[in-house]
Amino acid sequence: MIVNNRTKSVSFIIISTLILLSVILSFLTNPVSPTPWVLVIALCLMPLIRQSHIKQIKWSKEYNIGIEYIDQDHKKLLHLLNQFSIAYDYAQCEEFEREALEDLVSWTKYHFKREEKLMEDYRYPGLVAHKEEHQAMMEQVEEYVSIYNREGHDSLKQVTNLLTFWLINHIQESDTKYRNYLLELGADEFDS
Ligand SMILES: [Fe+2]
Ligand SMILES: [Fe+2]
Repeated sequence: MIVNNRTKSVSFIIISTLILLSVILSFLTNPVSPTPWVLVIALCLMPLIRQSHIKQIKWSKEYNIGIEYIDQDHKKLLHLLNQFSIAYDYAQCEEFEREALEDLVSWTKYHFKREEKLMEDYRYPGLVAHKEEHQAMMEQVEEYVSIYNREGHDSLKQVTNLLTFWLINHIQESDTKYRNYLLELGADEFDS
């Protein structure tokens, strides 16, 4: 049986409320018994249990390409992806989810423009192919956004996995290639 994120969140709230009510009742009926304390511990553990199901990707040193402002852009992209995962998994507020998706899309566009400008400035020979990769990704993301506008929350299931996979691969392969080219040129100071 497929349980969607809204159902999971509602179940989480109901279970937490039931435990809270049990704590109050246990304290009122038998304050010396260990039961209410066990329930308090269970209540404290609930957010941790909920959080452990949310996938968060940590930045790793191997994702650095060595150009400070581009690395900062990539870190922010990963952070926005993580924010989006939280918004999607909690699925409590459409506004939060939509905002997280829009932030992710607009930062991705902004970053692609900055990167393309850098490659243009240094006449990178792989610019056209690299731009095409960016373009294909943006088309894919925009398609997801329009599906989301039509079908809502459940249509976003694949987005985080796809974007994370794409981003990490793209950084480690295509972005690393233009970085190598810039290093071969002897360029070592870059303005954002
Ligand atoms: Fe990049
Ligand atoms: Fe790129």
